[in-house]
Amino acid sequence: MTRKSNRIFSGVQPTNNLHLGNYLGAVRNWVRMQKDYECIFCVVDLHAITLWQEPAALRQNTREVAAAYIASGIDPDASIIFAQSQVSAHAQLAWILNCVARLGWLNRMTQFKEKAGKNRENASVGLYAYPVLMAADILAYKGTHVPVGEDQKQHLELARDIAQKFNHDYKVDFFPLPEPVIGGPATRVMSLRDGAKKMSKSDESDYSRINMTDDADTIALKFRKAKTDPNALPGPESLDERGEVKDEALAARPEAFNLLSIHAALSDASLSETVNRFAGMEFSRFKGELTDLAVAKLGPINSEMKRLLSHPDEIDALLRKGAQRAQTIALPVLRQVEEIVGFLH
Ligand code: TRP
Repeated sequence: MTRKSNRIFSGVQPTNNLHLGNYLGAVRNWVRMQKDYECIFCVVDLHAITLWQEPAALRQNTREVAAAYIASGIDPDASIIFAQSQVSAHAQLAWILNCVARLGWLNRMTQFKEKAGKNRENASVGLYAYPVLMAADILAYKGTHVPVGEDQKQHLELARDIAQKFNHDYKVDFFPLPEPVIGGPATRVMSLRDGAKKMSKSDESDYSRINMTDDADTIALKFRKAKTDPNALPGPESLDERGEVKDEALAARPEAFNLLSIHAALSDASLSETVNRFAGMEFSRFKGELTDLAVAKLGPINSEMKRLLSHPDEIDALLRKGAQRAQTIALPVLRQVEEIVGFLH
């Protein structure tokens, strides 16, 4: 199959637990991509330390992300799962690409501005160079397709710019320009406490998100406490002729539509089918149905994660093996880059 010549690269930072937003928005789609693409999924620990991480927590979170990948259905034999720091080509290529990328390009990155906040002078140099490392991640494998969320699109654009400038400056046709892959439907999962904010691992309130490590009781409690409004669930009047939620309906009831789209995603239904199905139902009853569905879908993933995490040595061994496989792809690419740049061998 020709699409197998395409190569997917993506990664998640081990900065905290994965949550439902990561699962529905990313990992679940990756699982499906395995049949059409050669896939490399990374736990990007080098990116994680651009903000302070407690060493013990970083180690644990790295294992947790790997366990979540596997428990969600990423096959560590078919795909490559590894930790970024265990393949030195990432850092080495990043340095070379630092010398290709321009300050002006990085100055435009909105995520740096958000993460650095007001005290920009005190941000790490790594936080600033973060998108160049991300470009190195992808280009070290000559990745062609990158599943990313909305928030990473600008970084992927930058990776394309870097690849293009490298090819141009050195007069080679070496790096492919990686393309974004937009994931499946209905997967912008919002906070359970505020339907206008994305579900996020950095939100102070744990009630704002469903973590992939949450057990059935915790999932039930969080959905029960999820913010709603006093009305019954919206119906077909909130949909336009294409079956999409009208902007004004969404703006009026973001929490209701968030819960509906979580239900839709978990049941592999479209949002319009889901809206029609639950039209006029009381929230308390709908939340019960949503909880049952979430527990049925996430429960097995949760228990598999727990099982895997009870054998950290096995996860570590698996990641080491993944790193070796990753290295056999990345190292020859790095060697060729060094040759192109003019480094001695
Ligand atoms: N920056 C990405 C995020 O925070 C993670 C990441 C690092 C990544 N390297 C990558 C994603 C390469 C895709 C490809 O979500």
